[in-house]
Amino acid sequence: MFPLRYGIEMAKDPPTNSTQALYQSPFLRACRHEPVPFTPVWLMRQAGRYMPEYRELRERIGFLELCKTPALAAEVTVTAAERLGVDAAIIFADILLVIEPMGIDLEFGKGEGPIIHNPVRSRADVEHLRELEDLGALDFVFEAIRQTRRGLRDDLPLIGFAGAPFTLASYIVEGGGSRNYVDTKTLMYRDAGAWHAMMSLIARALSKYLNAQIAAGAQAVQLFDSWVGCLSPDDYREFVLPHTRDVIRNVNPGTPVIHFGTGTAALLELMREAGGDVIGVDWRVKLDEAWKRIGHDVGMMGNLDPVALFADVNHVRGKTKRILDQAQRRPGHIFNLGHGILPNTPVENVIALVDAVHELSAGA
Ligand code: CP3
Repeated sequence: MFPLRYGIEMAKDPPTNSTQALYQSPFLRACRHEPVPFTPVWLMRQAGRYMPEYRELRERIGFLELCKTPALAAEVTVTAAERLGVDAAIIFADILLVIEPMGIDLEFGKGEGPIIHNPVRSRADVEHLRELEDLGALDFVFEAIRQTRRGLRDDLPLIGFAGAPFTLASYIVEGGGSRNYVDTKTLMYRDAGAWHAMMSLIARALSKYLNAQIAAGAQAVQLFDSWVGCLSPDDYREFVLPHTRDVIRNVNPGTPVIHFGTGTAALLELMREAGGDVIGVDWRVKLDEAWKRIGHDVGMMGNLDPVALFADVNHVRGKTKRILDQAQRRPGHIFNLGHGILPNTPVENVIALVDAVHELSAGA
């Protein structure tokens, strides 16, 4: 096949924005379900309020402004990846940035999370949403990716991301976070035509947005379907699956896609059907059972409970080992939390987790 170097097979052609060192990184090898010297690990929200460096920066600058200042977004991204010793960086941004140029008026209130001032509740509201034709309004994201790529080690992959259509639709319709998704499901059930029109508009925007992140220098992309677990399997199949599938199908071939959701125990097979090289799961499912259900020919990301990081280090190591044992070092496992790191998480425990994954999985 291909010549061997460092004991691992060399691949043919890395995609144009990847060097051979990047292409052979444990994270990208795992995305392609190739063997790795140790289990790669990165953590959702690895750059965030649990980090003193981040909090200090946020005293001087608002969240959206930080996202829109490429030099600072790049600095936050690189600092987190280096401090933790993780195997991939994720661009500092937010899933909601893409909806602003679609006509949504977005604000991040102090400590309250996102607020949308013009939520979409009717067919008429859907008709007012703008098609994302010109990506220029999001150039700050692409510039942050270019600057981050220059600041990262040559062999450390950078993950681009977007919210999946359902999770974005839930914010657009509810106007913020939600407990029962009543307005979202009401639109879905009462006016399926308007729902599908909105979802396909979002899906078209997302594939363009993700491909532009790849062109700017991201080596992999993740779709966050954080709140999709509120749906029944039948509703997922009818109202969500076709749109998520369209996004993933239209991502440049050759760039791995991670498809992540929470509370998805009832949806795993359907998420797999929607697509993705790697499926991300939370701690409410057993990783080995989830993997068996979706098939070992796709990758698996997860799945430590982020709250476990509040326990003592030995407890963290124990839980980490249990997850690694379930993965059995099968090619395609990427270690992560089951959802983002929470504020107030002790930084030393996060670092201990990364070290534990590397140590416990190396040469096993
Ligand atoms: O993972 C990373 O380190 C990259 C950066 C990143 C952020 N948001 C930064 C952020 C990523 C990947 C996201 C994704 C995101 N944003 C999701 C999907 C992941 C998930 O958590 O389910 C969602 C649902 C959002 C929307 C969002 N952004 C919410 C609900 C909130 C408020 C809640 C909170 O945690 O504060 C945000 C704000 C946000 N996004 C912060 C960060 C670091 C905190 C803002 C601050 O500094 O106060």
